[in-house]
Amino acid sequence: MTHADLLEVELEELLRNEWFDPSEDFVRDALIQDLSVHAEAERDPIAWWEKQAAALDWFEPWTQVLGDENAPFYRWFEGGKLNLSHNCLDRHVAAGIGDRVALHWHGEEGESRTITYAQLLADVERCANVLKARGVGPGDVVGIYLPMIPEVVVAMLACARIGAPHNVVFGGFSAESVHERMAFSNASALITVDGARRKGRTAAVKSEVDRVMDGLTHLETILVVRHTGTACEMRAERDLWWDEALAAAEPHCPAEPLDSEHPLFILYSSGSTAKPKGIEHTTGGYLTGVAWSFKHVFDLKPQTDVYFCTADVGWITGHSYIVYGPLANGATSVMYEGAPDYPHQGIWWELCERYGVTIFYTAPTAIRTCMKWGPEPVRAHDLSSLRLLGSVGEPINPKAWVWYWLVVGGGRCPIVDTWWQTETGQMVITTLPGAQRMKPGSAGTPLPGMRAAVVDEAGREVQRDTQGLLTLNRPWPGMLRALYREPDRYVSAYWERFGAPTYFVGDASRQDHDGYFWVIGRVDDVINVSGHRLSTTEVESAIVSHPKVAEAAVIGQSDEDTGQAICAFVTLRGGIDGDDATIESLRDHVAQRIGKLARPKRIIWAGDLPKTRSGKIMRRLLKDIAEGRELGDITTLRDPDVMAQLSAAIVRHGADED
Ligand code: PRX
Repeated sequence: MTHADLLEVELEELLRNEWFDPSEDFVRDALIQDLSVHAEAERDPIAWWEKQAAALDWFEPWTQVLGDENAPFYRWFEGGKLNLSHNCLDRHVAAGIGDRVALHWHGEEGESRTITYAQLLADVERCANVLKARGVGPGDVVGIYLPMIPEVVVAMLACARIGAPHNVVFGGFSAESVHERMAFSNASALITVDGARRKGRTAAVKSEVDRVMDGLTHLETILVVRHTGTACEMRAERDLWWDEALAAAEPHCPAEPLDSEHPLFILYSSGSTAKPKGIEHTTGGYLTGVAWSFKHVFDLKPQTDVYFCTADVGWITGHSYIVYGPLANGATSVMYEGAPDYPHQGIWWELCERYGVTIFYTAPTAIRTCMKWGPEPVRAHDLSSLRLLGSVGEPINPKAWVWYWLVVGGGRCPIVDTWWQTETGQMVITTLPGAQRMKPGSAGTPLPGMRAAVVDEAGREVQRDTQGLLTLNRPWPGMLRALYREPDRYVSAYWERFGAPTYFVGDASRQDHDGYFWVIGRVDDVINVSGHRLSTTEVESAIVSHPKVAEAAVIGQSDEDTGQAICAFVTLRGGIDGDDATIESLRDHVAQRIGKLARPKRIIWAGDLPKTRSGKIMRRLLKDIAEGRELGDITTLRDPDVMAQLSAAIVRHGADED
């Protein structure tokens, strides 16, 4: 048998197990070794969260743990005052661990920077002073559009230090997306970069931003990090170079004592409409939830662990579990600028070996890609330092789970499959690695203090092993507090369906006979591509803004690599079929409007789209057709013939996929 065959046999063998156990050694040293913590939290969730909040540094104590008088506008730790940058930096330096490495940064071209807690604090203080000198104060929104470089962490913490909510835009989104998000949030400053690097190439960023940022009169400052040396114009009065500004700034900036409910950040995420949701998180509750979950789900021993999360800071995973969770716990992290296959397909594992990574957190789509590359790039490195693995962003298929377990974890490392959302701010459903057994494909159970249920359309809890809608039934500290400037949408999107305190998640799920939750996927018009959320309508409006397009409908189609892939049914003006050049031009257009990750993988030319008599596009039928399933009920269609035409189009264009 070849090595590949042997591996296949081993994986098949593993797949026969329903349960996996952490090793005795792991359990013996784990922070939490049994379920008594769940029982304690269940007896009095309020007292339990209060105990966790007390692990942070507060300038003033709270007067009330949970304020629910105005539900669903919940308030946590009201009356309390704290500062997140103080909790992530100053208190560690004061405790004598300023020399501990906060970040081992590794650049695309192999450069590295080691940044201690004391150094990070020094940069954050100066950056905070630069913002203050530009008139940015508590409540003023600051946009951040940066690649994975240490400055992004400095920028976020500087905002937190002065109480200016940050609005980070993922570096892979287009300048147009940045413009939209800066306009929605009325940002007064933007922190960006001259250029970004990707797989050996450089792309201009600041000049792209300049191209679209005119007309935003409220944007008074653009602070530019010098990273690639890419030329750009600096507009007098508005633009500053980061290095020059920080060098000239006052070195000391006290952390502002902020109300527990002071807004910490806005993060735009896709909802069911074309307009992204400005998900707003606040200070005290968010840090309580994120700090507790980071420490206990990852079983963190800050003196010895080295943590590596492969997400981008532009997503919630980066906010909660690259920046705030690790730093609040005094952890040492690896931060990598580049792509997983640059300069080679083993770069993550090279970094794990070099820095002695003990805890590794990634997404199922990345694991599936590694599977495609085969075990060699992993096995070329010594991964014996690893002791715990994590997964996030989408359901992990059992095959990918056992591959992760065996090839990456050497059959030795527990895997925590963490289910949560931008809205939840913190992990919600997962196993605790030293206390619970694992089932590949199931995230596990709600964390202590949290409650989840699977319900039917009417909100009644369904029987075990039955699919239904996932709900969270009790407020938790890291929960979103609002949609930025859209209070009605906040209520209608999450709370109207079943009534507070039942939070409507938007995922389908089932709970099995052991109480373990199996998340199936979204029930709304949100597509999850490689763990990134996009809305069908958002992509549709980008497509229809192309001059050749009359109409478009977008669906998420199951995809072996990316979980879901974007499939667009497009009607061109004049009713003609497009050619390859039109496909490329549409894909480029979407990349320009939203970002490369929103480019449709598949485009199907449609003479017409299936609509109900009231004109609503029936995406369910498009999904059936794209995935080659038998068509569901078509009697409500205005023109049932459309389906036959579409089936023919699928046959003709079956080879469109790339
Ligand atoms: O559908 C669920 C899926 O990702 C959605 C949340 O996306 P986002 O807000 O971008 O946050 C992703 C990172 C926290 C959820 O509604 N999802 C996330 N984690 C899992 C998951 N689905 C299954 N298992 C997971 N572990």
